[in-house]
Order: sequence, then C-alpha cells, then structure tokens
Amino acid sequence: MPHIVIVPGTNRAGSNSLHLARQVQSDYDALGCSTDLLELHLEADFLAPTAYQHHTAAITSRVDRFLKGDGVVFVIPEYNGSYPGVLKLFADMLPDKISFNQRPCAFIGIAAGNFQALRAVEHFQGVAGYRNAYMYPIRVFVGGVHKVIGPDQKLNDVALIERLQTQAKGFVAFIAALKPSG
Ligand SMILES: Cc1cc2nc3c(=O)[nH]c(=O)nc-3n(C[C@H](O)[C@H](O)[C@H](O)COP(=O)(O)O)c2cc1C
Repeated sequence: MPHIVIVPGTNRAGSNSLHLARQVQSDYDALGCSTDLLELHLEADFLAPTAYQHHTAAITSRVDRFLKGDGVVFVIPEYNGSYPGVLKLFADMLPDKISFNQRPCAFIGIAAGNFQALRAVEHFQGVAGYRNAYMYPIRVFVGGVHKVIGPDQKLNDVALIERLQTQAKGFVAFIAALKPSG
C-alpha cells in the first residue's frame, strides 16, 4: 500500500483544516496505507532570505517528509478567496523537478462560506499543475465548515464522510495505476 502524506494547508491555531486532515488520515490508515500528517507549523528558518538557496535542517526535514509520499493529499482552506500564504511558502521550498513532478496529488477544499474553497483549490492546482503533478480528478469541497465540524473537532456529516472515504479509495487506486510496473 502507498505511503500517503496529508498536508493541512495552514498553520492557523485551532484550524479546521487540521481537524479534517486527521479524519482523512484515519481513512487512509483504515485502507492499510502508512500516513504522515505534515503540518505547516513552519519554523522561522522558512522566512530567512537565504532559505531558498540554503535549506536548514528544519526545512530539509519537512521537505524530506513531503518527498516520501507516494501520494500527497492537500486539505486547502479558503483564505481571502484563495489558499493560505504559508502553503505557497512551503511549495516554494520544495525542490524543482523532484517534488510535484509525476507525484500523485489529491485535493480537498474547506471554507466557512458557500464557495467551498473551489477557487482556493483551483489556485493551488495551478501551482501543482505548473510543477507537473499527477492530479487526481475527484476533489472534495466542504462549505459551511462550522456546521459540519462539531465542538469535538470531528465531522458530523455522514454524506461528507462517505465522499472523503470514496476519494481515499479512488486515490489509492489512482496511485497504483500510475506506478511503473515491475
Ligand atoms: C485569514 C482568513 C481568511 C479567510 N477568508 C475566507 C474566505 O475568503 N472565504 C471563506 O469562505 N472563508 C474564509 N475564511 C474562513 C476559513 O475558510 C475557515 O476558518 C475554515 O475553517 C478553514 O480555515 P481553517 O483551517 O483556518 O479553520 C478565512 C479565514 C481566515 C483565517
């Protein structure tokens, strides 16, 4: 089974993206995948003007975790009609050629409002596509997040839970289909 890296696309304290990412992680665990929840609580090193040329141990450690993924699931919150800057900063630290190139990626959007992070996801897909990712076409969009995630930080919407599980199964099959045979 593939190794799945799940990236909640924000570092906001108390983020709903992180709650949702934990649910997604448990779906992949249930399928027998190994998983890594790669949070973007980026160290100050990421903001150093030298960070692009010189990766400190803290940056290398997060980048390496990303590169281990046979597939990467992005849980992307909508911030001001797009995706959070911290996610772009992380993407900009991922080395050229080996990070997105031919790496299967899946996308989940999450928002307080009715646009359900469609634009946030599509903005980020523009970056992933530019970097030659293999993008799984079935995306999941979550709007009105405060209604579907309860005070226990868990999803309470059965249809949504099923959509996420369907995406997880499909993404694992997508990864298997793309793997070179032999
Ligand atoms: C800086 C910021 C900007 C936001 N902009 C939007 C927005 O444009 N549209 C929207 O529906 N929700 C917006 N939200 C609400 C988030 O979508 C909401 O907090 C949701 O829970 C996902 O983000 P989270 O992972 O930070 O919780 C914004 C939240 C923050 C912190």
